Amino acid sequence: MRLDRFLSNLPCFNRQQVRLLLAERRVRVDGYCVSDPRLEVREFSRIEVDEQLLQAGRAARYLMLHKPQGCVSATQDPEHRTVLDLIDEADKHELHIAGRLDFNTTGLMLLTNDGQWSRRLTQPQTKLPKIYYVETEQVIEAHYIEKFQQGFYFAFEDLTTLPAELTLLGPRSARLSIVEGRYHQVKRMFGHFDNKVLRLHREAMGPLHLDPGLRPGEYRALYPEEILAI
Ligand code: URA
Repeated sequence: MRLDRFLSNLPCFNRQQVRLLLAERRVRVDGYCVSDPRLEVREFSRIEVDEQLLQAGRAARYLMLHKPQGCVSATQDPEHRTVLDLIDEADKHELHIAGRLDFNTTGLMLLTNDGQWSRRLTQPQTKLPKIYYVETEQVIEAHYIEKFQQGFYFAFEDLTTLPAELTLLGPRSARLSIVEGRYHQVKRMFGHFDNKVLRLHREAMGPLHLDPGLRPGEYRALYPEEILAI
């Protein structure tokens, strides 16, 4: 929300006082003096007036996990181990998953408590490429490439998938770049050819690549430049 709105929502200031506080440069956001009433502040912003702390600002958290097979992309599951069970952090229940993976899909998974950041990462409008390594039961034929480019009609959602780039690596393996994240998207795309996906591994989401130093089940905090890249 806008800074002036945040301040005038507090019981201690009315709108005129807020205008004055800003004009007198008595407001600090994340340590910087601010006079622009339109500045967007969030739950992660530290907000002070003079020496008085109005909001400490929650710590924003961004984790990269190497999701192993046999693990649910959910924060709770009555039956199976979840990705959250792999995280050993006090505030892990505040985290959500930015881009789910199926039970047996492995690879890059991002967890955060920053909803704006995860929306930028996953919403189709952003068109961030998600890169998958795929192994299939049958041979992946060269004519698949054009179909992946043209798109597949998904009757359930009544949409045609956006152009995807398929690169053949071997008779039954390929690298696939898609910009959406529809339900079981990759499996449904190969399903069009009656070709079952046997192994699926997410290597990257936009500029974020799975750290090769992370073994399945391991995670690390994102580096500042990785957070800013989204
Ligand atoms: N597409 C799928 O079919 N499964 C995944 O886990 C991710 C993308």
